[in-house]
Amino acid sequence: MENQKLIVSGGKRIEGEIAVHGAKNAALPLLSATVLVNGECVLHNCPRLTDIDAACRILSHIGVKCRREGGTVITNAQGVSGCEVPVSLMREMRSSIVFLGAMLGRMGHCRLSYPGGCELGPRPIDLHLSALKSMGAVIEERYGYLECSAPSGLCGTAITLSFPSVGATENIILAAVLAKGTTEIHNAAREPEICDLADFLNSCGAKISGMGSDRITIVGVAELHGCEHRVIPDRIAAATYMCCAAATGGELILSGANAAHLDSVIPVLRSMGCKVYSFGKGNVYISSGATLKAPHTVRTMPYPGFPTDAQAPLTAVCCIARGTSVFVENIFENRYRHVGELCRMGASIKVEGRVAVIEGVKALSGAETVACDLRGGAALVVASLAAEGSSVISGTAYIDRGYESIEKALRGVGACIKRV
Ligand code: EPZ
Repeated sequence: MENQKLIVSGGKRIEGEIAVHGAKNAALPLLSATVLVNGECVLHNCPRLTDIDAACRILSHIGVKCRREGGTVITNAQGVSGCEVPVSLMREMRSSIVFLGAMLGRMGHCRLSYPGGCELGPRPIDLHLSALKSMGAVIEERYGYLECSAPSGLCGTAITLSFPSVGATENIILAAVLAKGTTEIHNAAREPEICDLADFLNSCGAKISGMGSDRITIVGVAELHGCEHRVIPDRIAAATYMCCAAATGGELILSGANAAHLDSVIPVLRSMGCKVYSFGKGNVYISSGATLKAPHTVRTMPYPGFPTDAQAPLTAVCCIARGTSVFVENIFENRYRHVGELCRMGASIKVEGRVAVIEGVKALSGAETVACDLRGGAALVVASLAAEGSSVISGTAYIDRGYESIEKALRGVGACIKRV
């Protein structure tokens, strides 16, 4: 798996239909949430991604039954016993910190290895830890482990987040659903994945309101029962495939998408000259003409602003748009690592701190490139589809964390791409 590569011969128009898989960033907190449920949970539209496999391994490791039947993952946490997530499993997946709130909420204590820094820069969890401590958790960090316990149980309280952190909002919700009393989160994250998590927990008997706004209220309940739930579609995978169509002057139907979750992405692609509209139940259509125009400055922001996860794939499209594109990455410190690789393909990009300035060029040329994070790897795929000649992309393990067999999806719409 590790040393697989994608071989792409560029210049082919993307034409056809891609079914959008379930959202990775919804499925991960949902799997963590099943730890809280004293019964069977059925999660439909669970994407086949290595991060999801890693989350299922963590569940099994702590005694939660977890099996996959096609696109559905079934769990049962009646017999949950373990409360330690070893370093091997924590390292496999950055966002395993989202298990903290659920394990504390259900078992009252847990021991997680400190999630290592990763490709996007340091991934601090200070907002998670201070919030959980304010609910009565005792957390000690030593020898690279987080020792967490709630000796007298977790108590609801009012928490104001200094930044609308997605993961911190999720961890607070997971810790609060079985806590004593009521928890109010102020300046909460508003991402659709948070709403999906709250909808699932409410189907299990939780009392959560305000999700989707910056103020979420959770009234603690004694127990949660099992339920059946369908994971929302992956808005970032949808945005990435739209970038593939835009970059190759193609046309694409994305089925099973949710256009409302793309409200800040679609106008940018339209401003570049793409035709985009949604039709029927969850279909989005995009077509792009021969030449693209550089968009106005793209600033990544918390939802509903432009998503940081779509920044890299869109920068690849802007490499061949007419004019100068300016990106401001306001969410992560170090999210331009794909830029050096795009420049190897003939892109003209200057990065200064959080700002990237892209001068459109006539065409990119295929090259050997290396993915060094998930969305940066996706950007290299977008660029290689548009480039003249063939490209070799290594580091596919990063890409497989967030895209279900990306080469099959793209081959199905005319791309010349294979995995070796
Ligand atoms: C989630 O990460 C997503 N991951 C990320 O997607 C996404 O980019 C991010 O939200 C923003 O939308 C999952 O949902 C699994 P944050 P998360 O907490 O929760 C800082 C992808 O490609 N921060 O909102 O880690 C942090 O350093 C991934 O699918 C603190 O300073 O994002 C970052 O700069 C990448 N202290 C910013 O906030 C904290 O305690 C946003 O982080 C927590 C975060």
